[in-house]
Amino acid sequence: MSHKVAPSLLSANFLNLQADIEMINNSEADWIHCDIMDGVFVPNISFGFPILEKVKEVAKKPLDVHLMIVQPEKFIEQVKNAGAYMMNVHYEASTHLHRTIAAIHEAGMKAGVTLNPHTPVTLLNDILHDVDMVLLMSVNPGFGGQKFIEHSLSKVSQLKEIILKKNLNTLIEVDGGVNLETGKKLVEAGADILVAGNAVFSTSNPAETIHKLKSLT
Ligand code: DX5
Ligand code: ZN
Repeated sequence: MSHKVAPSLLSANFLNLQADIEMINNSEADWIHCDIMDGVFVPNISFGFPILEKVKEVAKKPLDVHLMIVQPEKFIEQVKNAGAYMMNVHYEASTHLHRTIAAIHEAGMKAGVTLNPHTPVTLLNDILHDVDMVLLMSVNPGFGGQKFIEHSLSKVSQLKEIILKKNLNTLIEVDGGVNLETGKKLVEAGADILVAGNAVFSTSNPAETIHKLKSLT
């Protein structure tokens, strides 16, 4: 199976979000990555549910929602009502992760667990079979346009090996500093979904960049 690409709206033009979503609709992108921050779990605030609901009205691709917030379990209904396909919660932000994952599934969404750069993949041993995806952060979350942390590559390989050994279908998504160069290494290491914000929206032809990210082998 070839990898997916999920452009991150964090680097889109918020004054004309509709145009950027339509660009994604007409591109080879698979999902739309939406970053929600609370200024507590991460040192920044992005956008919340009213914007997400508007995004959903125009988006023709599944919404991959990345919650960088404390106590994400409080917002499962709102994330569902805003039209999310995948709800990603941070391992570091949810004390009762097993219950949270079950509640996300009960709400009818796919469930992803996200790891900060310092959190080892081996901590997922007792939850991996319950989640649809692991989102590995390859920067410290909170901002777009940061430098890729090279160590993330070995986390991808290590996690891929664990998933294969357990005979699971869990997807691996990587987020932060992904561009054509780091994206190629990530695909080689076993990443299934590449999130890219700055690498897509800072280029003069974002749809062409999405095509190039999709073409990486
Ligand atoms: C960062 C967000 C990312 C961000 C990635 O905390 O989770 O999704 O948009 O941006 P780039 O691709 O520019 O590193
Ligand atoms: Zn993200």
